[in-house]
Order: sequence, then C-alpha cells, then structure tokens
Amino acid sequence: MVLRRVIFLLFLLGLASCGNDNASSNNETLPSETPAEKGASLYTVNCATCHGEDGKMGGSGAKDLSQSHLSDKQIKKILQKGKNAMPPMSAILENEENMDFVIQHIKTLRK
Ligand code: HEC
Repeated sequence: MVLRRVIFLLFLLGLASCGNDNASSNNETLPSETPAEKGASLYTVNCATCHGEDGKMGGSGAKDLSQSHLSDKQIKKILQKGKNAMPPMSAILENEENMDFVIQHIKTLRK
C-alpha cells in the first residue's frame, strides 16, 4: 500500500512540474523599450558628450538644453542640418522615429 502512495505522489509531482514548464516558456520575450527609454538612451549615446546628461554641460559651446525654448520643428531642423559646432545628427539617429524620441527626451530636460 505504501508503494502505491509513493507512486501516486510521484505522479502528482510530475503533473506539477509539467505545469511549471509551460509557464516558464511564456516568459522568454524580452521587455521592449518604451519611447521615453529609447529617447533617453539615444541622447546618452549621441548627445550627452557635448550637452551633458542634464543638457547643461555646454561642451564645444553647446547650448544649455534646459534653457532652450525651441519648437519641435526648430529642433528637428538643427538635428538635420547641424548648427555651427554641432554636426548634423540625422545619419547617426538613422530615422525620423529616433529623431522624435530624442526631441521628446530633450524637452523633459527643460525647467
Ligand atoms: C559635437 C558636440 C555636439 C553634439 C554631439 C550634439 N550637439 Fe547639440 N549643440 C552643440 C552646439 C555647439 C550647439 C550650439 C549651436 C549654436 O547655436 O551655435 C548645439 C545646439 C543644440 C540645440 C539648439 C539649442 C538652442 O536653444 O539653440 C539643440 C536642440 C541640440 N543642440 C540638440 C542636440 C541633440 C538632440 C543631440 C544629439 C542627437 C546633439 N545636440 C548633439 C553641440 C553638440
């Protein structure tokens, strides 16, 4: 009789571990970046060297982005064409979508 109970318990354990396997296979997709996170990381990589993480650094005579009041359109133009010591950024940002993410990010640096 004891043997039958052990077999029954093993059977239950087997069922439980099958359940866990199914659950873990659903967890494999990586969490995707939100637009805000994308903008922040693009800024850190491509802009912070001159402008600083908070936009205030002013390297190579860069404007303080926390004091900037340009419209999205004006910012976009500077990013596409560059301005004085700031080189054009469109090739580095690769596409319009990334440019918009960065524009939204630098506006969060404003006071
Ligand atoms: C090589 C250094 C450098 C890098 C890299 C750089 N900038 Fe600039 N940025 C400047 C300089 C210098 C100016 C000031 C241009 C001027 O008006 O003479 C400027 C100006 C600006 C302005 C205009 C601010 C205003 O109110 O006039 C914006 C917006 C801006 N940068 C955004 C960015 C963004 C976004 C990135 C990254 C995609 C970036 N910059 C990367 C140097 C840089």
